[in-house]
Amino acid sequence: MIDIRDRVRNKALHAKIVSAEQAAAIIKPGMNIGASGFTPAGYPKAVPMALAERMKNENFQVNLWTGASVGKELDGALAEANGIAKRLPYQTNDAIRKQINSGKIQYTDLHLSHVAQMSRYGFLGGKVDVAIVEACAITEEGHIIPTTSLGNSASFVQSADIVIVEVNTTQPLELEGMHDVYIPLDPPNRQPVPIVKPDDRIGTTYIPCGPDKITYIVPCDLPDFVRPLGAIDDDARAMSAHLIDFLNGEVKQGRMPANLLPLQSGVGSVANAVISGLVDSPYENLSVFTEVIQDGMFDLIDAGKLTFASGTSLTPSPEGLKRFYDNIAEYRKKIVLRPQEIANSPETARRLGIIAMNTAIEFDIYGHVNSTHIMGTKMMNGIGGSGDFARNGYLTIFFSNSVAKGGAISSVVPMCSHFDHTEHDIDLFITERGVADIRGLSPKERARVIINNCAHPDYQPLLMDYLERAEKATGFAHTPHLLDEALSFHTRFLQTGSMKK
Ligand code: COA
Repeated sequence: MIDIRDRVRNKALHAKIVSAEQAAAIIKPGMNIGASGFTPAGYPKAVPMALAERMKNENFQVNLWTGASVGKELDGALAEANGIAKRLPYQTNDAIRKQINSGKIQYTDLHLSHVAQMSRYGFLGGKVDVAIVEACAITEEGHIIPTTSLGNSASFVQSADIVIVEVNTTQPLELEGMHDVYIPLDPPNRQPVPIVKPDDRIGTTYIPCGPDKITYIVPCDLPDFVRPLGAIDDDARAMSAHLIDFLNGEVKQGRMPANLLPLQSGVGSVANAVISGLVDSPYENLSVFTEVIQDGMFDLIDAGKLTFASGTSLTPSPEGLKRFYDNIAEYRKKIVLRPQEIANSPETARRLGIIAMNTAIEFDIYGHVNSTHIMGTKMMNGIGGSGDFARNGYLTIFFSNSVAKGGAISSVVPMCSHFDHTEHDIDLFITERGVADIRGLSPKERARVIINNCAHPDYQPLLMDYLERAEKATGFAHTPHLLDEALSFHTRFLQTGSMKK
């Protein structure tokens, strides 16, 4: 077994160091497991893999709660063992996605800022039975130093009867000090979250726990299984350029300070490309108040353009993770990781006036957004933190390529096939074609701006024809729709393989 005694600073706790198999043996069928992890960062690996092995022999299931998506050693291993009955609040794993969309896993897709509170109240199907949390060390006082993410770990540790800490020797000790753990009281005792700037620190650098609450400590030497980011293509570059043009205009008109407002940026390649694009922009002294810290933010720090980034997880590519570890002494001065209840707090997003930038699967001519469902029925990933930020930002932007699947799908449709964000929450759409600034517009005004500025030319005539016929048929109603045709783009795709006529 790997020697982790130097990382377990309370000597009395050495007696609780066991193998992953011994720790996994405490988990009973049907238990609610609350695991650390947010994206493939900071999730437990050894205990889930041992649990998955046990499941293959004993054929049982648990419910898995995390911060967000996690790596293959947790989601992948348990899915392969058919070991998950219920999953929440977010995932990106292919095997899990298949099981969700074939009725094998019940999935609860939640706003990420809501999860900790819902779990504390028992709304998610009872309380957390077992917390499994990755740590880089345990303090003399028995508190847990987290690793590359914070997610819901602190709240899960607080609520669980059984706490298993996986001490990961691949996680550098310099991570200590990068976290700011604050668990709000529940209503009616909640106080204002006292963050007024992205770099404000309001909590502890560890997850409060204490030696008695820790059941087992397990060594692990598997690194975070981070994934490569997609190459930045011309469309992503175009979206980034449109954003910068737009922001230049806002600054010129005095609607935003010269260093903008704190930036929030979603997951994935488009989001990363947009942030990277700011490296070549005129902006200095930028700040970030977001959920995931991706490679683009390291680019901004290295370029001397980003003064501070607050998030709940580090989600770099494999090269990005190496770069972070190699330069951790510098990056740790400019990055803080918070529980997702705070990183994604609507209160804080509204107070700071963030620029919320997320990616849509599709949006409709009236400005509604579908972030989660393919053709209205199949779950892709989940809403993640997009709703936390979109509803509460100062400026809420959704990005998307104007088409998907080689042009067979228009991302701009007459009516979304599923709704995650409504017309009331969104200010701006950006595709590679351009920017639709829909602030203050009525639905019929919005439709023209969205079709003209964001839709692909192959689909513009079809969308305009729909709008004009809907206007006539409804006598120019507030939001004109032809109800028997509103989803015709989707049904045409399902029947013919293309949304084109
Ligand atoms: N219809 C069908 N499929 C579509 C589609 C559409 N309108 N638009 C995109 N897709 C497909 C793409 O073809 C691609 O498929 P592939 O994996 O088979 O290649 C896949 O969806 C992902 O699209 P991509 O263009 O690569 O974008 P992305 O990696 O940036 O992901 C989301 C886009 C919407 C799926 C992703 O951002 C997401 O899950 N968002 C919700 C959560 C969120 O916003 N979190 C951030 C909060 S801080």
